[in-house]
Amino acid sequence: MLRTHNCGELRKAHLGQEVIICGWVQRIRDKGGRAWIDLRDRFGMTQLIFEEGSTSEQLMAIVRTLGREYVIRARGVVIERLSKNSKLSTGDIEVQVLHLEILNEAVLPPFLIDDETDGGDELRMKYRYLDLRRRPIRKNLELRHQVSRKTRFYLDSHEFIEVETPYLIKSTPEGARDFIVPSRMNPKQFYALPQSPQTFKQLLMVSGLDRYYQIVKCFRDEDLRSDRQPEFTQIDCEMSFVEQEDVLEMFEGLVNFLFKEVKRIELTKFPRLTYADAMKYYGSDKPDLRFDMRFVELNEVIGDTDFHLFNAAELIVGINAKDCGTYSRKKLDELIDFVQKTQVAATSLIYVKCKLDGSFKSSVDKFFDQDALSNWANLFKAKPGDLILILAGKKDLTRKALNDLRLEMGDRLGLRPSSKFCPAWIIDFPLLEWDEETKRYHAMHHPFTSPKNQYMDQVDKAPESIKASAYDLVINGVEIGGGSIRIHKRALQSKMFDALGFTKAEAEEQFGFLLGAFDFGAPPHGGIAFGLDRLCSLLGGAESIRDFIAFPKNSSGRDVMIDSPSLLDEEQLTALGINSEKK
Ligand code: AMO
Repeated sequence: MLRTHNCGELRKAHLGQEVIICGWVQRIRDKGGRAWIDLRDRFGMTQLIFEEGSTSEQLMAIVRTLGREYVIRARGVVIERLSKNSKLSTGDIEVQVLHLEILNEAVLPPFLIDDETDGGDELRMKYRYLDLRRRPIRKNLELRHQVSRKTRFYLDSHEFIEVETPYLIKSTPEGARDFIVPSRMNPKQFYALPQSPQTFKQLLMVSGLDRYYQIVKCFRDEDLRSDRQPEFTQIDCEMSFVEQEDVLEMFEGLVNFLFKEVKRIELTKFPRLTYADAMKYYGSDKPDLRFDMRFVELNEVIGDTDFHLFNAAELIVGINAKDCGTYSRKKLDELIDFVQKTQVAATSLIYVKCKLDGSFKSSVDKFFDQDALSNWANLFKAKPGDLILILAGKKDLTRKALNDLRLEMGDRLGLRPSSKFCPAWIIDFPLLEWDEETKRYHAMHHPFTSPKNQYMDQVDKAPESIKASAYDLVINGVEIGGGSIRIHKRALQSKMFDALGFTKAEAEEQFGFLLGAFDFGAPPHGGIAFGLDRLCSLLGGAESIRDFIAFPKNSSGRDVMIDSPSLLDEEQLTALGINSEKK
């Protein structure tokens, strides 16, 4: 070993000991007769001290050649500091250096390597290896390591075994586009990278492995957002001989365990919300339950009115923003602008201020008298000082817009602290949803999801009304995981493919292997997959998953550090049998 200790471990107990430590130069302070270096490594920071008199002139001269991020090795004696630093774990001591060796020089880094940096996103991504030297990012990776480690521990103790499934596969329909890999040995043929190991984990159940998990990379060619990366990691799990309740219990256990072990937080029993209620009361299948502000529908109380917007509306729905009744014109205008900017709003924002004297002031005073407004206020359980915000229009769009507005109000009122965690299971998803664009049904979860027992014989009759044995785990408005009980019989799986508009030949061509496997005694099975990156960013109190991934892609799907994706040369293209544009 080049060192006896790391930069985070020396304490008063080491006083008088001769030690060797290695690391990167974080900071140099040179006061003429005395110089200090903050030496940094993964474990912390230790102060080195050099003093004329006790330090040789030759050593003093070496110190003066050092720059930020030089890699050095220092031998010296641990002494007590005159002025202690309570913020540092090593803040009681310093190392009086006897000998110093430069292990490597460093050019000036393009941004400050410190907790707060002056580097913009692109620069930090280009020099990601330098960004990873910064403590906050390193902490994120340490947290991720803990989450993976504890996950393995929990699943292992519940008899799951980790099995690797292939990356070079055939397309699986999970809703996104596939990343494609050409096959040199099979000209003009392509592999697809898995969007998830869905079909493989089901086949492992057919194999009798009973309980499988894998912490696994998945690849989806979709538009990126702060919580989406083209390659991301799932904690992917599957169990045999289970019903929905068993899966929910097992994995509520996992999430509880992770919160307890990683964050020292005891979560209470996760509430369950049907998809229909989530949409009705929060306008989203991933409601943020850190605050209430439920939707209240007004269609029935309003009935016929001269106010055209309401009369023409499929849905009139609002929220009560507590204590916002004193909002100024400017603040209300900001909200009106916000709603318009969300682009989904077919309508403008209506407001009712519940004034402190018990009267009401609304943007629709011309159409509704005080009695009517008081009626609405009762429905919203609004008190004097509250502000009712209402949208009206097409059902889906209006709900979506009000969901955005609800979250905005939650932010404005400080109701979404990252230190509060509110998980919920969303259950009873529709099995299928109609897609206007393609004029066909899509599986809301994926085509392998089973209908709930009472709908088993209706797949080919009334697809719209069928509920699935599918569930999502949502925490603080983020979809952390999702899964389902699977179809395990050929006949039902075939009916499902029919309902999705596959011809028999297409179904056989794409999924013949799975249908075939079902003929050989497939057990009832179900499972779930969690987004590891999302789970880590949630536990780390951040919105973006990027800083919980060592080498992420930017928002255009590029790795700007290695400059990928990139062009291939002619020779490679020819070898792969892919015609270039020139030909
Ligand atoms: P699903 O598609 O819901 O289910 O994915 C499971 C979880 O993976 C995370 N996730 C992502 N995280 C980061 N970037 C992305 N692009 C991304 N896409 C998804 C989410 C999501 O909840 N095979 C099924 C699971 C099953 O049925 O068992 C599946 O993949 O947190």
